[in-house]
Amino acid sequence: MKFFVDTADVDAIRELNDLGMVDGVTTNPSLILKAGRDITEVTREICAMVDGPVSAEVVAEKAEDMIREGKILAQIADNIAVKVPLTWDGLKACRALSQDGHMVNVTLCFSPAQAILAAKAGATFISPFIGRLDDIHLDGVDLIADIREIYDNYGYETQILAASIRSVNHIIEVGKIGTDVITAPPGVIKSMANHVLTDKGLEQFNKDWAKTGQKIG
Ligand code: G3P
Repeated sequence: MKFFVDTADVDAIRELNDLGMVDGVTTNPSLILKAGRDITEVTREICAMVDGPVSAEVVAEKAEDMIREGKILAQIADNIAVKVPLTWDGLKACRALSQDGHMVNVTLCFSPAQAILAAKAGATFISPFIGRLDDIHLDGVDLIADIREIYDNYGYETQILAASIRSVNHIIEVGKIGTDVITAPPGVIKSMANHVLTDKGLEQFNKDWAKTGQKIG
């Protein structure tokens, strides 16, 4: 399973990257706002730090404007994946940008039908938002399963990038289904290390060790 980090927080990316936990990064306009940084400057910094794809999102709504913005974003670094929304214009932009040799991440996917169109338009990644489906009492994990089944049936090469991940459980569930990539906030990735029995076990080991009166080294 590839791990992308869903943030434009450079320090948080660095911490995970130094541990070998980062296969790529995803950003969006909301994450750029949260980081409070200039999009070009922060994206360049992230691209220099991370070897894998770094998604940077267009904001235009018409295909021709998305293509123009996408080409500008792609100039930031070789590892940019241009992110376009799953609209009809976004699919046109996906087609043009991928034919032009750019990686394209089609975002805001909420149905298997949308995912089929993205694959046919040549998307490198499809980003189904699972947490936002859960928010409206639909099953985001089921969407990943449906897309996996359809993509495998037809040998589509578009990678499934499970996004809007809110919990460790989301990561486990989409991993069992066989998502290609997950993108999650740094805090969710770090919380994968937590287990109440690890904490309890460590506490007991520390207590018992103190009773031995020994030292290592
Ligand atoms: O990768 C998409 C992600 O940034 C959206 O997450 O939690 O705002 O639905 P969320």
